[in-house]
Amino acid sequence: MRYRSQSVAYWYFAVAMLLFGLQLAFGMLSAIKYLGPDPLINVLPFDKTKVIHTNLLIVWVLTGFMGATYWLVPEESRGELHSTRLAYVQLGLWVAMGLGAVVSYLFGWGTGNKLLEQPLPCKLAIVACMLIFLYNVGMTIRKAGRFTTTEAVLLLGIGSAAVLYLPALIHYHNYTVAIFYRWWTIHLWVEGVWEMIQGSFLAYLLIRLSGADREVMEKWLYVIVGLVFIAGILGTAHHYYWVGVPSYWLGIGSVFSALEPVALLAMAIYAYNAMRRSGLAHPNVLALHWTLGSAIFTLFGAGLLGLAHTMPSVNKWTHGTLITAMHGHAAFYGAYVMIVLAMISYTLPEISRERSERGSSIGYWAFWLQVTGMFGMTLSFAAAGIGQVYLERILGLGYLDTQLKIQVHFLMLIATATMFVVGAGLFIWDFFRRAPNFQLSETSETDAPAIGLRTAPEPAPLR
Ligand code: HEM
Ligand code: HEM
Ligand SMILES: [Fe+2]
Repeated sequence: MRYRSQSVAYWYFAVAMLLFGLQLAFGMLSAIKYLGPDPLINVLPFDKTKVIHTNLLIVWVLTGFMGATYWLVPEESRGELHSTRLAYVQLGLWVAMGLGAVVSYLFGWGTGNKLLEQPLPCKLAIVACMLIFLYNVGMTIRKAGRFTTTEAVLLLGIGSAAVLYLPALIHYHNYTVAIFYRWWTIHLWVEGVWEMIQGSFLAYLLIRLSGADREVMEKWLYVIVGLVFIAGILGTAHHYYWVGVPSYWLGIGSVFSALEPVALLAMAIYAYNAMRRSGLAHPNVLALHWTLGSAIFTLFGAGLLGLAHTMPSVNKWTHGTLITAMHGHAAFYGAYVMIVLAMISYTLPEISRERSERGSSIGYWAFWLQVTGMFGMTLSFAAAGIGQVYLERILGLGYLDTQLKIQVHFLMLIATATMFVVGAGLFIWDFFRRAPNFQLSETSETDAPAIGLRTAPEPAPLR
């Protein structure tokens, strides 16, 4: 840690870890209900456990993004955060909002639009948190007077994510209109501006872990952002096939969403090449596992499994089935969970006591159990989804009859999810088992390293 105020990242990460654990508890509860009978049906039915599961995911991943940004910006801009107090006020409000939303779902209060169910006061709290966050980060960069490309892409991602949340504040009476604008938030988040956030964390980590040339890495970041924009924006139309809008969206959706994996392929090649050409410049091999893992798993979960059901000829059968859940898990995990865990793994030796720079064996177990578990969960959802599409949509069997026939796949889901939960539990345990330690380090990214490693060149300020 080179700047005292970077310590706020630790508390954001700690909150993210606790909410990650809670998210998984509600995921397990949702899965077990598929096996029935459900003794909790009157208190905690599936709709409540699922909404809590997905909302906690979004909240903790965003908490991770915020913590990682508060870590990254002082280091890139070479100056302390504008205000640590504001960062803690933001965290307090954010936690109150997250827990408030969970409690309100337990009572059945919410605004109903999938993934954007937060009650209005929670939505307003989200807007307030984003404003504080953007102000604090913006002022930090202004004061320091140094703005790197990595930061520019990160800020573009965070700023646009905040703006794209605004359509979610409006209540629409017409269901088609509601669905139409819902995707401006959800799709443009996960297949647009969040990818910029992922891309900038990837660049930050690869420059440090591989010692790859900053100028080259940042140039490629522009290319990736360009590709995301070209395909991602009009790719939104792959959600407009069956929602009651004109049929020209079918063609637009097919062409542009089919191009989306190109950006993800570029990202994976980018990460692999940085490693292959520049080698290893940092002892933290565990963080490297998460970083490369994120690029590769995204290509699999979002690129390949997204492509698998993005054409109207396929999507007319698979829309809204467990095929969507298959892709949703693998894509979200690869792109956003793994990149947050990469940032945490990278910072952990610097913000907690008595840790080896290389990562502990618990850390490696956590990585492999999670990756294997999530791969298994993806296959389980896929097998269940294919069965569901065939029986329900092609043979015309009733929804519940179909569910009975595919129950066996939920046994496999629960077995593989258990493996995942052990991996995630180990990660969380590894995070908390050492006390935090906020001592400033003597060496910097560009100082001569003690381990005979290559160093990244000084970045040129943009202004
Ligand atoms: C990191 C990137 C991505 C993430 C996190 C992600 C996540 C998700 C999630 C959570 C859903 C379900 C949304 C809902 O029903 O509310 C979804 C749906 C969908 N995704 Fe992605 N996705 C990503 C990238 C992609 C890409 C690149 C493609 C296409 C090439 C794609 C194609 C689709 C399609 C077609 C659906 C609609 C499924 C349906 O009709 O039920 N996704 N995605
Ligand atoms: C203990 C591990 C987990 C279990 C057992 C689990 C189980 C489930 C279940 C049963 C559903 C409802 C599917 C349906 O609508 O029928 C669901 C939805 C979802 N889960 Fe998980 N989950 C787990 C972990 C995760 C993780 C780590 C992520 C993030 C990467 C995640 C992301 C999602 C998403 C995005 C949805 C909504 C999918 C959709 O729109 O179709 N889950 N999960
Ligand atoms: Fe999409």
